Amino acid sequence: MADDLERPGGDAEHEAPPHAAPPSIWPFAFALGIAVALIGLIISWPIAAIGGAIALVFGFLWIRDATREVRGAPAPAPPAAVEGEEEVVGEGPPQYPRSVFLEGATLGIGALIGGIVTVPALGFAVLPAFVEQTYDPVDLGPADTFPEGQWMITKFISVADEPPDVSRRTAYVRNNGSRDGQPSFTIISNRCVHLGCPVQPQGLTEEESQEVETEAGPVEVTATEPSGFVCPCHGGAYDIEGNRTAGPPVRALDRYEFSILDGRLVLGQPYSVAEVEGEGSEALIKAYPIADPGVHVDGPEQYFYPYVP
Ligand code: FES
Repeated sequence: MADDLERPGGDAEHEAPPHAAPPSIWPFAFALGIAVALIGLIISWPIAAIGGAIALVFGFLWIRDATREVRGAPAPAPPAAVEGEEEVVGEGPPQYPRSVFLEGATLGIGALIGGIVTVPALGFAVLPAFVEQTYDPVDLGPADTFPEGQWMITKFISVADEPPDVSRRTAYVRNNGSRDGQPSFTIISNRCVHLGCPVQPQGLTEEESQEVETEAGPVEVTATEPSGFVCPCHGGAYDIEGNRTAGPPVRALDRYEFSILDGRLVLGQPYSVAEVEGEGSEALIKAYPIADPGVHVDGPEQYFYPYVP
């Protein structure tokens, strides 16, 4: 009789058909982790890392529970031997319940869809952090084009290979004299740190400009007497050192590094500034990597961008 056939390692208790793992909260916790990670990609890296860790831990627990049944269950009973046929014990492919197959297929398809959706987004979000943006030095002409204490509006081409309409930039330059024997210049970007509109000097600007020849093309230089800078878009206002004084901007105006090469003023990398203490050559400035408009570079707000409290 088939029922009387002996199975290796089998007894009445072990012969009970395997059953699916009881419902667990791991899938929901895993989904929560993915959601937190995606939100973190927009808000801040620490939150993305926490979400990733949650997804990793609960994903592991989910998979472990889902596969426990397969690992712990005995092999299903082989088909009953038909009279006259020789019984083959312990051979043939392993067999799994359909529920296990469906669960595995659901996990696999879910992972595939998750990967298709997440990987490109992750790539676009993460890659720029590893690709350092560099800026070409820009020759603004002889340093004596900039008299001490005088603000100058400079308009120049920032990237020689790009069309002028795309790469034309404006910076406000003031020669501060010297500090500790070194030349000192204040060079402020005209990009508003609210949404990026061009800020304007608030005060009289000469009508006549001069063109300074450089290898990359002419630089337009115009003298101005600003008492501060204003943004025409939403009323953002800055003092003469670029500190925000009113309106929606979230930090001080960005600045440029500079150097004097062969007597010429050369713009270097731009950098961001939270606040400037002091004035001119005595100013105390903490430089941050250049940040987009609207982004805080210091304080707790930097972790909540774009949700500014
Ligand atoms: S873009 Fe300057 S205040 Fe909004």
